[in-house]
Amino acid sequence: MKTRKLRDIEVSAVGMGCMAFSHGYGKIPSEEYSIEAIRNAYKHGCTFFDTAEVYSPNLSGIGHNELIIGKALEDVRENVVIATKLMLHSVGFGRKVYDEICSHLEGSLDRLRTDYVDIYYLHRMGGVPVEKVAEAMGRLIDDGLIRGWGLSQVDVNVIDAAQSVTPLSAIQNIYSMVERDSEENIIPYCMDHNIGFVPFSPIASGLLSGKITPQTQFERNDDVRNWVPQLSRWNIEGNMPIVEMLRAFADNKNATSAQISLAWMLCKYPNIVPIPGSKNNERIIENLDSAKVELTNEEFERLESELNRCKVYGHRGRGGF
Ligand SMILES: NC(=O)c1ccc[n+]([C@@H]2O[C@H](COP(=O)([O-])OP(=O)(O)OC[C@H]3O[C@@H](n4cnc5c(N)ncnc54)[C@H](OP(=O)(O)O)[C@@H]3O)[C@@H](O)[C@H]2O)c1
Repeated sequence: MKTRKLRDIEVSAVGMGCMAFSHGYGKIPSEEYSIEAIRNAYKHGCTFFDTAEVYSPNLSGIGHNELIIGKALEDVRENVVIATKLMLHSVGFGRKVYDEICSHLEGSLDRLRTDYVDIYYLHRMGGVPVEKVAEAMGRLIDDGLIRGWGLSQVDVNVIDAAQSVTPLSAIQNIYSMVERDSEENIIPYCMDHNIGFVPFSPIASGLLSGKITPQTQFERNDDVRNWVPQLSRWNIEGNMPIVEMLRAFADNKNATSAQISLAWMLCKYPNIVPIPGSKNNERIIENLDSAKVELTNEEFERLESELNRCKVYGHRGRGGF
């Protein structure tokens, strides 16, 4: 597997989003299946695993996903990069931001069976000024408890304010062929400041795999696809030209649609490391193999211009969870 750098942290060019083993895409697999899938991804060359303290069934409870990752990767800990996230809405009366973050981090370290986190993200901006968070993250780096830090779903002003206090390793925002807001100034800012960009939902929650049709029924319980804007029945129909364009391109290239959607962003920006999510062993490997799909300049330009001609139906941006 090729590698890329998120600031000074080396990771496989494609990472693995582990959320669906606990939350967000309907019924979760057994713990045994999830652990096996994570270990298979590692054996296949993946060294970058994404989780968060809040990834638990229905987002109730804490740490279901981190516990699975801890068990799966304990034996290979020093060979992998683990990114997790904390939610910090406010700081308890009389407490310091550093202490509050430390108590979240301690829980994550325990569940992840490790004594350091490679990239520690603030999951969402809450009521705490980002400069204070950046200062605390700087101390945690000095303490050796985290190697780097990041922000998720933020705009360029927040990134700039944070970066001037403690340099960031990565920004994790939504980004895919149908969610391209970050192209305007966030990804360029990251490139200029040696910050990695980690797109979440890079396959647009499955839309870009070509496996979703207007007739697809999503699960009733804990399934984000019920509210992802591009996946309403009406918008899936509207987005079919993108899906068809991608399918034709993929067929020509002997690849899958999901792989082309990932290869497109890898080709477009050198600082991008997507973290596709799947709870299916074969599709996890398929997605990792997108790192092997090379697009020539001509192919990339054709894909980009065909994409630019398509109207996108539905927009999530930085809203929603
Ligand atoms: N920072 C944040 O706020 C935030 C928010 C959301 C997600 N994330 C992170 O980003 C990761 C990825 O995002 P995501 O899971 O929302 O979206 P995604 O990777 O765009 O899509 C996941 C969906 O696509 C399907 N899929 C994936 N690969 C496929 C393939 N090759 N063929 C057919 N279907 C495929 C999956 O179904 P199957 O499981 O059935 O394969 C699942 O339903 C998460 O795991 C999480 O770590 C972060």
